[in-house]
Amino acid sequence: MHFLRERGFEHRIPSDITPPEQYAVRRQWLREAGLLATVAVSGGLGVSGTAMAAPAPQGSTGARKLSASASRVPGASSSETRTSYRDATSYNNFYEFGTGKSDPARNAGRLRTSPWTVRIEGAVHKPLTLGIEDLLRLAPLEQRVYRLRCVEGWSMVIPWVGYSLSNLLRRVEPTGSARFVEFETLGDAAQMPGLRSSVLQWPYTEGLRLDEAMHPLTLLALGMYGEVLPAQNGAPVRLVVPWKYGFKSAKSLVRIRLTEQMPRTAWNKVAPTEYGFYSNVNPSVPHPRWSQATERRIGDSLWTPRRKTQLFNGYAPQVASLYAGMDLAKNF
Ligand code: MTE
Repeated sequence: MHFLRERGFEHRIPSDITPPEQYAVRRQWLREAGLLATVAVSGGLGVSGTAMAAPAPQGSTGARKLSASASRVPGASSSETRTSYRDATSYNNFYEFGTGKSDPARNAGRLRTSPWTVRIEGAVHKPLTLGIEDLLRLAPLEQRVYRLRCVEGWSMVIPWVGYSLSNLLRRVEPTGSARFVEFETLGDAAQMPGLRSSVLQWPYTEGLRLDEAMHPLTLLALGMYGEVLPAQNGAPVRLVVPWKYGFKSAKSLVRIRLTEQMPRTAWNKVAPTEYGFYSNVNPSVPHPRWSQATERRIGDSLWTPRRKTQLFNGYAPQVASLYAGMDLAKNF
């Protein structure tokens, strides 16, 4: 991602560079997801509360909807203007499909998302392999509107659909020695042209401390904008950790491993002095090669001033206590 920043890609307005191919790609993914969505509906998701009858997002090609109730988790709603569906699905980082911002939308149609399983293992009493239809039924789906802040200096506001990862972690019963959680994502060269590049060591992995992973704001996302996740956004299931830089939110998860030792992570392996394990959004801890004090909201015009970045991306009231007594510059 830092390579792109150097070339100035982040200054483009994504609406201007949306490739028409993305719509074809999306239709292809939706055909595959059709089965999945049918399961979700006929399986009776048992969603309680107010069902969201959201209108199809502008630019959507009509993906199956996921009904979800508005989340009651503190911090999980926002009155900020949402990023357009078009921008959120055409300006992406998903290096398995290429390093350009429009590469994922162009190339991710190759991703087969059904069948799909996620294995949860390691320091747990009850290891488990779940299919995507099991994950859709594991807990009531909630809509959560989160800010997403990329380490490159841009941000979005996205309505996700999913539930707290803690629902899944509780199910496998972590042992007393579990302290961290490692997330492994799909690394299939046959489907992912980006794996030919050695920009990262594949598969892409990420990690959290167990208490961060158990925090109610840590989201296992299965959809966005009221629909199943588009491939370029990490279909069929991804992580969203809203108070950390976007690269912590690993896409297209296949394995979740509880560990005693702090896991190495994909970006930390290639540039340990630039991408720390914690990577909490922090305006006063600059990236070694650029400031993190401000950000550009995707969708803003080029003459709109950059916004001030907030500590923990604005989620300090909910998460600051996780880091009490820690030196955030040292534990970056
Ligand atoms: N997950 C995988 N597997 N591969 C990636 O390249 N990029 C990360 C993160 N998750 C990435 C990933 C980065 S840098 C960001 S900013 C977010 O995904 C972008 O998510 P979005 O494209 O849905 O906005």
